[in-house]
Amino acid sequence: MKEQIEQLRETFLAEIQTVGNVQELESLRVKYLGRRGQLQGFFKQLGQVDPKERPGIGKLLNELKSLFETSIAERASQFRRTETREKIDLTLPGRKPPLARKHPLTQVLEEIKSIFLSLGFSIADGPEVETDYYNFEALNIPRWHPARDMQDTLYITEDVLLRTHTSPVQIRVMESQPPPVRIIAPGRVYRRDTPDASHSPFFHQVEGLCVDKGVSFADLKAVIAEFARRMFGEDIQVRFRPSFFPFTEPSLEYDFNCVFCRGKGCRVCKQTGWMEISGAGMVDPNVFTAVGYDPEVYSGYAFGMGVDRIAMLKFAIDDIRLFFENDLRFLSQF
Ligand code: DAH
Repeated sequence: MKEQIEQLRETFLAEIQTVGNVQELESLRVKYLGRRGQLQGFFKQLGQVDPKERPGIGKLLNELKSLFETSIAERASQFRRTETREKIDLTLPGRKPPLARKHPLTQVLEEIKSIFLSLGFSIADGPEVETDYYNFEALNIPRWHPARDMQDTLYITEDVLLRTHTSPVQIRVMESQPPPVRIIAPGRVYRRDTPDASHSPFFHQVEGLCVDKGVSFADLKAVIAEFARRMFGEDIQVRFRPSFFPFTEPSLEYDFNCVFCRGKGCRVCKQTGWMEISGAGMVDPNVFTAVGYDPEVYSGYAFGMGVDRIAMLKFAIDDIRLFFENDLRFLSQF
């Protein structure tokens, strides 16, 4: 019987080598391990074996059983591995890693910068956390002035605040150099505003300042109009309205055509047909005095513009809040 058992071991080991797939492996398992299989046959005969030899034979049979089981399991896992490998379709196109791109505001800001650089302006910078002096006082807005009401902000201390506009950079630049000056200052600004389609508690401005001998209102108008044409095309209309800012005299506000309704009036332009871009004017003599420029010798113009509004016009976006929600479905369109 020992020989027969040895025989069975050898045929099994030879046979399992020839098994080519899962189905064949399963019939092999039934043949050797099944209830009516070969091994079971031997177990059944065990009763007739000489009791002295019985334990030894039993041990052999048990060893054989576990050999069958482990060999079959190993073969099965081999088949499983090759099967998954075959399931990978190498002809499928690869998955593209998403490419980063510039935020629409960054794109517009870069365009604004390059237009002004080509007009002879250079780029200046100032802090977003500003002092009361630079944000208000030096710009001819004393503490009691009602113009402060429109520019409420977050105060860090009595005298330190989040800047409400980029105009303080005018003062910082003039303090640091003698005339002539021709700069733009792009950056983020903060205001106590309730968010809606056209307001956000933070937004972006580009400040402009040009100071020299003999600078006039005509220069200001020409630069703004030229900017509008380069940004939006020859047919853009620009409107100048008289206004008031403490740091300019005289002051104006300028608007571009609303691109959504082409001037008819809609939600975005609040039914006016115009998009308010920002303010401008001739630098007030008090501002020159604050930085030590002689207002009798020098004159200059200044302007601010809302980058977010320009971007909205440029890309036909009707809600400023979309810029700040970090929704890739929105951002990836630009
Ligand atoms: N700083 C003003 C604002 O935020 C905009 C502005 C008006 C800037 C007139 C100027 C200017 O430089 O001359 O509303």
